Amino acid sequence: DAGHYDTGGYEHYLLKEISEQPETITRTMSGRLDERFHVAHLGGLNMDARETRGFRQVKIIGCGSAYYSGQIGAQLIEELARIPADAEPASEFRYRNPVVDPDTLYVAISQSGETYDTLAAVQELKRKGGRVIGIVNAVGSAIAREVDGGIYLHAGPEVSVASTKAFTSTSVAFALLALHLGRVRDLSPADGRRIVDGLRRLPGQIEQILAQGEEIAELAKKYAPHPSMMFVGRVRGYPVAREGAQKLKEISYVHAEAYPASELKHGPLALIGPEMPTVAIVPDDELLDKNLTTLGEIRARGGRVLMVGHRAPDAKLADDVIVIPKNEIELDPILLTIPLQLLAYYAAVALGRDVDKPRNLAKSVTVE
Ligand code: AGP
Repeated sequence: DAGHYDTGGYEHYLLKEISEQPETITRTMSGRLDERFHVAHLGGLNMDARETRGFRQVKIIGCGSAYYSGQIGAQLIEELARIPADAEPASEFRYRNPVVDPDTLYVAISQSGETYDTLAAVQELKRKGGRVIGIVNAVGSAIAREVDGGIYLHAGPEVSVASTKAFTSTSVAFALLALHLGRVRDLSPADGRRIVDGLRRLPGQIEQILAQGEEIAELAKKYAPHPSMMFVGRVRGYPVAREGAQKLKEISYVHAEAYPASELKHGPLALIGPEMPTVAIVPDDELLDKNLTTLGEIRARGGRVLMVGHRAPDAKLADDVIVIPKNEIELDPILLTIPLQLLAYYAAVALGRDVDKPRNLAKSVTVE
């Protein structure tokens, strides 16, 4: 029950929550960015600089979209802090009797703070002496109470079953955490400043993407009738592709697969043809040429391509393009996610689905 929280004139909670993202990520950053020393203040971590420097590894756990945002987080931490980091579904983690290491920082992610698999993983970690912090939206929730400290998202209530604003706020919280870990280690003040300035630009850039809603709605109408869609991306683009496929599946019931772009030729390329279009995440980064080659391979098999990136490629390589504003490459995933949320939303609307309450799903999965 959403209580007093209504759709505020939007047709669905989902569109409201997508549209709120300039404000929600601003709240996640609020009071945490330091313009003078180019650091992030994260008092909720309850950790001094010496302890923060001591971690040799970061392990991130969460379920579903929380796990995909954890993959974005792991890449941010490796890039900015140069600490080995990876993400794993919390459910897998808890069932495989993991080795719990005292020099690892464990990060549990949850919008609701009530997801049972994530909570059970946190409890298992604590039982074995692991140091666990949380990135959580719901204040005072079970996971927030269980962890040793953490970062609240302050994204406000998320009502629609499909997570959108919590996803981007979590990614922003990871950028803050990566900046924090980086600046007590080797990240230079100049690079710290680059990230702080980049974070500040994000809300305005999200506004620019939201302003393309009508064009994205048209594209959604065009692609939604296909029975199946492929989503591909490389490195920073891969978790974005996974989240894009997840959003589409959840609310439109269109089958979608996400693959690292380089993996296509190892199997899934066999699926590509006119009946299975590809959404390709192609940011203007050091992998641009590799990604454009992949588009050529898809097109050569008769596959249609909807590209999301920073500039339109040669017309032969993509049928449609959504162009988004450029930020620092490390922060690209946050902006690349927004058009995919809108694409899934408008596809679900075009197909007449129950957007805010998709079949078979619950907002928070409090059972095993
Ligand atoms: C997101 O769109 C999904 N509904 C789902 O994957 C969700 O992210 C997952 O169940 C985790 O929920 P939590 O963040 O509340 O723990």
